[in-house]
Amino acid sequence: MAKMSKELEGKVALVTGAARGLGAEIVRRMAVAGAQVTAADKRVDQGVEAATEAGAHFVELDVTDAEQWTAAVDFAAAPGGRLDILVNNAGIMRVAPILDCDPAEFRKVIETNLVGTFLGIQAAAPTMAAGGGGAIVNLGSPSGFEGTVGMPAYSTSKWGIRGLTRTAALELADSGIRVNSVVPGALRTAMTRRPGWEDDDYERHYGATVPLGRMAELAEVADLVLWLASDQASYCTGGDYSADGGLGAGTPAAHH
Ligand SMILES: NC(=O)c1ccc[n+]([C@@H]2O[C@H](COP(=O)([O-])OP(=O)(O)OC[C@H]3O[C@@H](n4cnc5c(N)ncnc54)[C@H](O)[C@@H]3O)[C@@H](O)[C@H]2O)c1
Repeated sequence: MAKMSKELEGKVALVTGAARGLGAEIVRRMAVAGAQVTAADKRVDQGVEAATEAGAHFVELDVTDAEQWTAAVDFAAAPGGRLDILVNNAGIMRVAPILDCDPAEFRKVIETNLVGTFLGIQAAAPTMAAGGGGAIVNLGSPSGFEGTVGMPAYSTSKWGIRGLTRTAALELADSGIRVNSVVPGALRTAMTRRPGWEDDDYERHYGATVPLGRMAELAEVADLVLWLASDQASYCTGGDYSADGGLGAGTPAAHH
């Protein structure tokens, strides 16, 4: 591990949705890997606490707001003026089938997960390009590969991430910017929690249908994000990279 521990030395990174969950873990691990990291979130108190613990900076950012994006990129890039890594991790999920789904809630999910990622790419790419290039990692989901009962907006937003990722990869290749998406399996975070659940309930609900038989640890997904953001992934762009325990491969043998 010692050999790998400084894989992001000298890199400047901005991670959204970093007050908790996967985003906070990505920040922690990027800081350990030697990067200068700014954690961004609309949750300020929790964000400051998580960033401070990780040895990172914090900036308030609602990813749906283009002006806040400009300020967040400027903050993350100070004082050297360069930005090497952007992780578009902020996301929300709403559960309601199409016929019960409030259009305002549908729009909010698309606005946060998809438009928020678009605004991030738009805000960060010029600074990255000016520094000779960089890496953008967007958060996808298994819901971006199939329909998802009860999550019309979430599924649609994550399908959209795949189109946006590919288009950005094509448009930004000449600027030396690589753009990829990471597809995590189910993680034990606030997003997947249901009222009254214990740890075992998560595994019963999500773990059983996974070929590897369990949910993902935050680190197992964060490390894939780190790898794609690092120079080790220098020939990777426009792809979806899974850390999903085999979920995308099909139905586990035990279920046949
Ligand atoms: N949890 C899972 O099982 C799972 C699976 C696949 C993909 N993902 C994706 O991983 C990412 C992180 O999910 P998580 O499980 O850590 O969720 P989480 O709810 O624990 O954390 C999401 C963070 O995003 C922030 N956020 C929400 N809206 C925002 C906005 N408008 N501006 C700025 N920040 C905002 C929240 O404040 C929160 O800190 C999401 O994109 C999610 O879709 C999660």
